[in-house]
Amino acid sequence: MDLYPLIRPLLFRLDPETAHRLTLSALDAAAKFIPRPRRLSCPTEVLGLRFPNPVGLAAGLDKNGDHILGLARLGFGFIEVGTVTPRPQPGNPRPRLFRLPQAQALINRMGFNNLGLSHLVENLKRLRARDFILGVNLGKNRDTPNTKAVNDYLLGLESVYELADYVAINLSSPNTPGLRELQHGKLLEELLTELLEARERLAVKTGKSLPLAVKIAPDLSLEQLAAQAEILLRYRVDAVIATNTTLDHSRIAHLPYGQEEGGVSGGPLKAQSTAMVRQLAERFAGRIPIIACGGILCAEDALAKFAAGASLIQLYTGLIYRGPKLIEEILTRLEERSYPSRSRISR
Ligand SMILES: Cc1cc2nc3c(=O)[nH]c(=O)nc-3n(C[C@H](O)[C@H](O)[C@H](O)COP(=O)(O)O)c2cc1C
Repeated sequence: MDLYPLIRPLLFRLDPETAHRLTLSALDAAAKFIPRPRRLSCPTEVLGLRFPNPVGLAAGLDKNGDHILGLARLGFGFIEVGTVTPRPQPGNPRPRLFRLPQAQALINRMGFNNLGLSHLVENLKRLRARDFILGVNLGKNRDTPNTKAVNDYLLGLESVYELADYVAINLSSPNTPGLRELQHGKLLEELLTELLEARERLAVKTGKSLPLAVKIAPDLSLEQLAAQAEILLRYRVDAVIATNTTLDHSRIAHLPYGQEEGGVSGGPLKAQSTAMVRQLAERFAGRIPIIACGGILCAEDALAKFAAGASLIQLYTGLIYRGPKLIEEILTRLEERSYPSRSRISR
């Protein structure tokens, strides 16, 4: 039974961060009693990995990896934890998360609040055999200058190398000043050079080649996107996650909280983010898989992402407005309809 429509009005009376904390604690407590998700027959092979299904949890909801097993019980095929930074940091002062229900949107300026790499690593070490794919989203500390950013990402890569199934290099959160500059030109090339060299070294040492995804912003001009896509292709990154939140507040500026500073997610991001997936898919022509994220609020939205060229999808804001039922709704539709056969395993 879907209890979320009953619980949601109560949660929405609370401050969003308190509601978030309570929900995740309740999920942990209930995890053992949640029946194992029905196995849906839509496994997907991407990144050299077999995803039990192509619907994932986007980064930011479980930044410290404290709730992985409970979240997996909701039926996700993959969970991305983080963004984690090398050292713990408090993030921006509260309030820093706002609901805009009229637009099924959120605005956040969390600023990578997290308990740091060592806390996350301890949590990952405690996980035993898993039946889902685990990604770790890596960031840099706020006080690390861009000239030294690569060191933060390298430390992240090394620390989780043997524990994760893939890493996502987050160059696109709008709430760490200057972070998005790393998405362009020389800075991006230098970063990728060092990370891919480190990956090669670690692959020799461990016998495992960890896939490396890059998470990008939706606020790019066509020229910027073309230049970025060319670099991502040249360096042969394993996947691109499109997209993070947008700085475009134009669709929500008239709503309560619509003027709050921060990244916009959910409904107002949907079309912009899907357009980005379509443009990237045209440029990549199947050479780099795309993980689509941004404004998926129903099964139709998910199908639109696959139609635009995505191999996998991720949810965040949709989960807050629709609850876990959204995952099952999407999986059921995927079972009914065929989605891109190139990413589907024939049985
Ligand atoms: C409160 C909040 C915190 C987030 N934190 C992160 C983060 O730490 N790292 C990251 O890469 N993306 C983060 N995101 C962005 C989401 O992962 C996702 O890219 C974005 O919200 C668009 O998807 P959605 O419309 O389904 O929410 C955050 C989003 C929200 C709403």
